[in-house]
Amino acid sequence: MVSNTADRDRVALAFSGGLDTTVCVPLLEEEYGYDEVIGVTVDVGQPEEEFEEAEETAEALGLENHVVDAKSEFARTCFDAVRANATYQGYPLGTALARPVIAQVILETAEELGCSALAHGSTGKGNDQLRFEAVWRGSDMEVIAPVRELGLTREWETEYAAERDLPVEGGDEGTYSIDTNLWSRSIEGGQLEEPSYVPGEEIYEWTQAPNEETDHLEITFEEGYPVAVNGTEMDGVELIEHLNELAGAHGVGRTDLMEDRMLGLKVRENYEHPAATVLLNAHEALEELVLTKDERSFKRQVDQQWAENAYQGLVDAPLVEGLEAFVDTTNEHATGTVTMKLEGGRARPIGRESEYAVYSAEAASFNTETVGDITQADATGVAKYHGFQDRLANTIRERAMERASAEVAADGGDDESTTRNE
Ligand code: ARG
Repeated sequence: MVSNTADRDRVALAFSGGLDTTVCVPLLEEEYGYDEVIGVTVDVGQPEEEFEEAEETAEALGLENHVVDAKSEFARTCFDAVRANATYQGYPLGTALARPVIAQVILETAEELGCSALAHGSTGKGNDQLRFEAVWRGSDMEVIAPVRELGLTREWETEYAAERDLPVEGGDEGTYSIDTNLWSRSIEGGQLEEPSYVPGEEIYEWTQAPNEETDHLEITFEEGYPVAVNGTEMDGVELIEHLNELAGAHGVGRTDLMEDRMLGLKVRENYEHPAATVLLNAHEALEELVLTKDERSFKRQVDQQWAENAYQGLVDAPLVEGLEAFVDTTNEHATGTVTMKLEGGRARPIGRESEYAVYSAEAASFNTETVGDITQADATGVAKYHGFQDRLANTIRERAMERASAEVAADGGDDESTTRNE
């Protein structure tokens, strides 16, 4: 740990070791005049190689880089999203959910280290700049986005890196731009920018091609939070990793999407998210059992809005607090177990049980005549009223039409012969 001296102007940079954040290091010193850049890499479940890359690059740059583990916290955020059945245009929001967590950790680390500014390497075209800054601009820190502010392109960055002998992996930053965390692996760029391009199996890493194999899984929830798989309790990180593996083997959780970004750009995205798909589908199946019809339909609107805010990274909006109050009350009853079948790229519920089931087998059965003191015959009155207003409206409107055509007929009838003269 470095001493907390405020005599040097320090900036904390969201550092991944990729091209964008690597070129940001010298630029923050030279173009923005900071005495010291400190890297912060937040662990939200990226693959091991990414930490190695970050470490190697930091070392070569002489950058002090702090790696902070936020996996448990992020898993909790993913589960909050499950409780809100959250997807955006079919995407379970992996990158979107991670950004505020990362931004918050960087802010706290920067405060501990006596920094006066925060920087990220996001471009001016994407969503991430907005998500980072939605969190950071609530603090007193200066916010810097060198790539956006200096109008950098990837080509310029590659040349600059070569000139300065900066440690970036020689050109094979990869064909695709990939963002991986516990909840999803997102693949964009390269040939995928052509919406008609059909990607091959090689773009996938978490999912097998859907196959003949099938599997049954039991997911247990407590108040909407997933707590166990097949009866084995697991913490959030473990549970997500376990399901990513199990369901990924069946090709569960692939999404190919034309996504509408916040700034209005459409972008082709491919995602892998096996655990997210299993948990979201299972949780919805449990809600089907334990919520009333009206709770379910109102919750769909609440969930939709929650997901919109999550996509935008506006997670501290007062609205979200209100939405979460409803998500919390409804999830108080989402305790139970759902059996899922994994098959041919799909994860679907095939059984569910809960002590809160709003369900009476006796009431629904064809074999019983009464429910409490209600008998079948009591439904006759309901059946008579059912649709009463619609029938009334139809009758009144038909009569009005009949009257209107009778009047036309009485007026001398035949419309065609009555030519109007000025
Ligand atoms: N479009 C998604 C989002 O904004 C994911 C972006 C992930 N980034 C990437 N380089 N693949 O949440």
